[in-house]
Amino acid sequence: MKAAAREENGPPPLDPAWQDEGLRLEMLAEMTDPATVEILEARAPAAPREIVEIGAGSGTIARHLARRHPDARVWATDVDLRHVHDGGLPNLVPLRHDAAADPAPVQGVDLIHCRSVLIFLDEPEEVLARLVGWLAPGGRIVIEELAGFPPYDPTTVVGGALDGVSQVLSREAGADPQWVRDLMVASPPLLERYGLTDCGAQVRVYPFHAGSAASEFSRLTLEQLRPRLLARGHLTEPQLDAAVTLLRDHDLVEPASSVLSVWGSRPG
Ligand SMILES: C[S@@+](CC[C@H](N)C(=O)[O-])C[C@H]1O[C@@H](n2cnc3c(N)ncnc32)[C@H](O)[C@@H]1O
Repeated sequence: MKAAAREENGPPPLDPAWQDEGLRLEMLAEMTDPATVEILEARAPAAPREIVEIGAGSGTIARHLARRHPDARVWATDVDLRHVHDGGLPNLVPLRHDAAADPAPVQGVDLIHCRSVLIFLDEPEEVLARLVGWLAPGGRIVIEELAGFPPYDPTTVVGGALDGVSQVLSREAGADPQWVRDLMVASPPLLERYGLTDCGAQVRVYPFHAGSAASEFSRLTLEQLRPRLLARGHLTEPQLDAAVTLLRDHDLVEPASSVLSVWGSRPG
């Protein structure tokens, strides 16, 4: 976590101990897993032996990978394992692990997946370089980040509220939107700079439909950040309540949540 967030007293803005954090992580997974699974199906090596999931969260992708590749060992890493469920899978290994500081869980990784983690770290590009260095010849990496595409319109009720969320996360949790832009548009692409080939990218947009995981994830993030959004003057209570009601009960035309995914392979 970045210095700005560390200097704060009290719990971090996205506190793993928050009462609904497990549900918020489940909504994130429900929203994003189908596209992630599609990408992993297309990009995973044929018979991986060692797989590392970075910042496993609720563990849904680690469990998917353990079922999909029963002969592989899947390391479900996270700095905080309280929400990681192993599903009783014998080839899934939960591991308390800091991607920014700890050595690779194993030498020669065939597949690394990391979603919505690097953006919160001090030096995401350096951590990306570390992860790439863990790959075995022929190994693949898939990195994904939630992104503000299309940009939130701060003049709408929900757009204004989510713009406030972005500001709190960027000031107090170190979430740097520039990192996502770099991941998308750096020239040459970041993954190619590290010698990877077969690089590609996609952006997937998730509309806010009432009751959808996308709406629920954003609503729960607003609720988790409620004290900070109000205390810092980003929103008034009626504005925040109106955004929560819209996300909970309505289909919205805009804005939307989106996820950038990039991938590449270490030459074999
Ligand atoms: C927004 S959640 C994403 C969870 C999961 N990857 C997903 O997309 O469903 C971020 C996760 O990264 C973990 N995390 C934060 N810093 C980390 C670090 N330095 N190393 C490993 N995990 C970290 C958090 O504990 C949390 O579980």
